[in-house]
Amino acid sequence: MKKAYLLLLALFLFSCSQPNRSSKEEAEIEGRIRKLISQMTLEEKLGQMSQFDPGQFRGDQDLKQAIKDGKVGSILNLVGAKRINELQKVAVEESRLGIPIIIGRDVIHGFRTIMPIPLGMAAAWNPELTEKAMAVAAKEAASEGVHWTFAPMIDISRDPRWGRIAESCGEDTYLASRLAVAMVKGFQGDDPSNVDRIAACAKHFVGYGAAEGGRDYNTAYIPETQLRNDYLPPFKAAKEAGVLTFMSGFNDLNGVPVSGNEFTLKTILRNEWGFNGMVVSDWASIYEMIAHGYAADPKEAAEKALRAGVDMEMTSNCYVSGVQQLLDEGKLNMQTIDRYVANILRVKFQLGLFEHPYTDETRAEKTILCPEHLEVAKEAASESFVLLQNNHQILPLSSNMKSVAVIGPLADAPHDQMGTWVFDGKKENTVTPLVALRQKLGEQRVNFAKGLAVSRTRTTEGFAEAIQAARKSDVALLFLGEESILSGEAHCLANLDLQGAQNDLLDAVAATGKPVVAVIMAGRPLTIGHVLEKADAVLYAWAPGTMGGPALAEMLLGETVPSGKTPVTFLKTVGEVPLYYNHKNTGRPADYSNWTYLDDIPVEAGQVSLGNTSHYLDAGFEPLFPFGFGLSYTSFAYSDLRLSTGSMPVDGSIDFSVTIENTGKYKGSEVVQLYIRDRVGSITRPVKELKGFKKISLEPGEKQQVTIRLNANDLAFFNGTNYVVEPGWFDVWVGPHSNEGLHAEFSIR
Ligand code: GLC
Repeated sequence: MKKAYLLLLALFLFSCSQPNRSSKEEAEIEGRIRKLISQMTLEEKLGQMSQFDPGQFRGDQDLKQAIKDGKVGSILNLVGAKRINELQKVAVEESRLGIPIIIGRDVIHGFRTIMPIPLGMAAAWNPELTEKAMAVAAKEAASEGVHWTFAPMIDISRDPRWGRIAESCGEDTYLASRLAVAMVKGFQGDDPSNVDRIAACAKHFVGYGAAEGGRDYNTAYIPETQLRNDYLPPFKAAKEAGVLTFMSGFNDLNGVPVSGNEFTLKTILRNEWGFNGMVVSDWASIYEMIAHGYAADPKEAAEKALRAGVDMEMTSNCYVSGVQQLLDEGKLNMQTIDRYVANILRVKFQLGLFEHPYTDETRAEKTILCPEHLEVAKEAASESFVLLQNNHQILPLSSNMKSVAVIGPLADAPHDQMGTWVFDGKKENTVTPLVALRQKLGEQRVNFAKGLAVSRTRTTEGFAEAIQAARKSDVALLFLGEESILSGEAHCLANLDLQGAQNDLLDAVAATGKPVVAVIMAGRPLTIGHVLEKADAVLYAWAPGTMGGPALAEMLLGETVPSGKTPVTFLKTVGEVPLYYNHKNTGRPADYSNWTYLDDIPVEAGQVSLGNTSHYLDAGFEPLFPFGFGLSYTSFAYSDLRLSTGSMPVDGSIDFSVTIENTGKYKGSEVVQLYIRDRVGSITRPVKELKGFKKISLEPGEKQQVTIRLNANDLAFFNGTNYVVEPGWFDVWVGPHSNEGLHAEFSIR
């Protein structure tokens, strides 16, 4: 029986292979996996299925003993090549089977060289740059002993109250899918066993961003059509890109927590997609199924997670404590355990940990914060900035201005500038806008006054100094926004206005009559309507990371030109949540002809006199800024939209070409975006869907033809029964954002 089973196991494992390994190499790995598993005790198997934080041990000896006993397959929240080598030595040279430990860590947007937060990286709409930035993160992390990052986070996020929107790629499925691929490739490269590469982890599978109320860890109800059309595609893209691991999440999805959800983890991930990598739970998310009320005790939590297919348990110990009983009770069989252990060992083989378990301890000092890495960080920050307003072309600042006032709680905030999810970045490495502007303009030309100690400060005693700084300067640069602690995990907000007395500070500085440029650093799109009223220019900088200061100084002075586009809709007020561009039309869509603004409603207006359409009396129906929006210092004209054909078969394609001209006086980049609308479907379809984009750079006066190909199966969707490409008529727009573009129509026969 055992022989037959092992043969079956081998065949199964062999069938779901990683694309980038030769079949010979792969067969060799599977053979070594099989051999190891045949030698392992249950305790050693459960050791591989367990990931620990060092704090869970009573000191070094306790940890080393557990490693020696084969009880520790993975450790997180541990860093340092020397320290990790020391523990790896115990695993490889002192444990019975010498299986190396895999070190996991949250290297979300940089290791020591901190890139913009992922939401900022998404605003760059530049997959190649994102890949480059994540390769830097991988190289630095690997030099300090990290083998595996818990990134990319690719949860679709349509609710800016949710603090973790900061670490997402925003609201759009297509953009998130493109960036998911870029991040997986950046972390893993073509060969994850390369010493400069680390395993990536597609998280949090799935639907975490749909938490009700934007409250973290909250319930998510997502119908299968929406799950498959909006939330799953980025994860599918990551899987197709060869991501080695997935992470299940905290949330309850339609009544079943995703760390015990057979539909997502088995039916979709394993059976439909053929994923044969490793799934790790989130921190104690298996144990938390008890709190969810989905498991009565740790043993049942283990049973449900194992039945669903979570290979490795992060920090809680339901597996270690419950599996023997489950086996004895016949609720679990050893084949399942062996399959999960194989998934874990496979990743360790693919990372080359058996061949080279130790890290060269001399690499870090040559790698970390090297000039090339800082250059990538500056480039990434620069391309993440979104110019939202530029009245009277006040930006770029004229080189002959005599002095600038640098004001605000984010002008010189080296910690907060790095954003959320930073474990290894050090604030002393951050270059702030104040430092960068002083370097560029000289101390004498920069009048600095914080105005407010931090973003939440409510007192105004610092205003006088700020007003004075503005009065003696040609222009006032206000750096406003959020401290980094106000976004990220568990940090949700019910009000998205600027915190503290920031709007009052803006008013006080604007009252001086000086031109005002507002730079907003935040982990989410804030409701900044008041800023738009009071400032002449508004540049959204997200959390720009280590080199945010130099990138901002260069852009404000015109050495670089803004090219960022909003990866998420900006709201007028938090009461509009959820408001996103690819919404359904409803039966009564609002437009400017059929609604009346609150203040314009006549007294005793007739019950049905205002237009019964889908809008708010006090906020209308349009966002503050649409998805894909961003200005430049130059301007771009779109013309001559052409289709290679007006109709395609269900297996055909159409090339959409458009001419873009730089009609301004600065060299600039434009993200040319292609949106479609499926006019009639077997289920209702969004009013717009991003299906392609290209970022191009044009000299002043230069024209370029951009072509974006659309295949009919790019228009496939799940209609509740099947994935279908349905014949019919479509609208297409090619333009600068989701609310504007040259229009045409085409059909699928
Ligand atoms: C956290 C996060 C997850 C992270 C993990 C390890 O709670 O949800 O994204 O990777 O625990 O830190």
